[in-house]
Amino acid sequence: MASVVPKETKVVRGVVLRRDPAREPCFDLVHLHDEVPDIGGLGPEHRRQRVHRDYNQEVQNLEVTALCLVDFPEMPWELRVELARQCWDEARHAALFYRRLKEMGGWKGMFAIANLDWSVVGMLDSLAARLAVQHRTFEAGSLDIGQQTIPQWRAMGDDTTADIMEAVDADEIPHVRFANDWLKRLADAEPRTVLQVAAAMTWLRRVVAVTGGTTMHPIATSTESRELAGFSATEVSQVARLEQQLLATSAPHEEGQNHA
Ligand SMILES: [Fe+2]
Ligand SMILES: [Fe+2]
Repeated sequence: MASVVPKETKVVRGVVLRRDPAREPCFDLVHLHDEVPDIGGLGPEHRRQRVHRDYNQEVQNLEVTALCLVDFPEMPWELRVELARQCWDEARHAALFYRRLKEMGGWKGMFAIANLDWSVVGMLDSLAARLAVQHRTFEAGSLDIGQQTIPQWRAMGDDTTADIMEAVDADEIPHVRFANDWLKRLADAEPRTVLQVAAAMTWLRRVVAVTGGTTMHPIATSTESRELAGFSATEVSQVARLEQQLLATSAPHEEGQNHA
């Protein structure tokens, strides 16, 4: 299953990535997350920055998912329905974060944005590779991150944002689960799928090494969320081990800091 639509690209630190998706003129685009000045602290401006970033992440998740539907029209109908349903979820998530941003006194474009997830996933030429990177890696990573950030929002006294993040995470689990399920089905039907996924993960590691600029923060693998999302116990412990290896080598991993 190969992509049928030609790509427009850009070069970032020597790596060819997909050119940014369209954005309104109010947005200042940068290529990498570490090019966005971090407000720091835990004050209102820092909180607005986090929600602003989550808003754009959800827009990207919608765009990446919709791009799969456009690029791989021959995929099985049941998978098309899953991806179409996901588009609805991601659009709703974006609207939730945008509304929350405005409630917090923020506005679209108040911070620079990076569209790295789109630029990375949009380069992958097979649907299996995109499911492996977008769903199995980025969105599953957001489940891990959510386990840490939701209590942080509550500790800051912002239960409204914490509740939104909890609701979003509840939707993310089925996204990861259907991707896990379909990757297994695609691999059963076409053994070459395994090679496509392996090549994509190798390429992703290289992109992370080149484009990362910050040391990966320790994020505990969320065993419960991942098992709900269809990872086996063995796979969960493999992910935890991989994260420990990344931490040990201080590998940059900014792409994983998203909220899918
Ligand atoms: Fe998602
Ligand atoms: Fe989402």
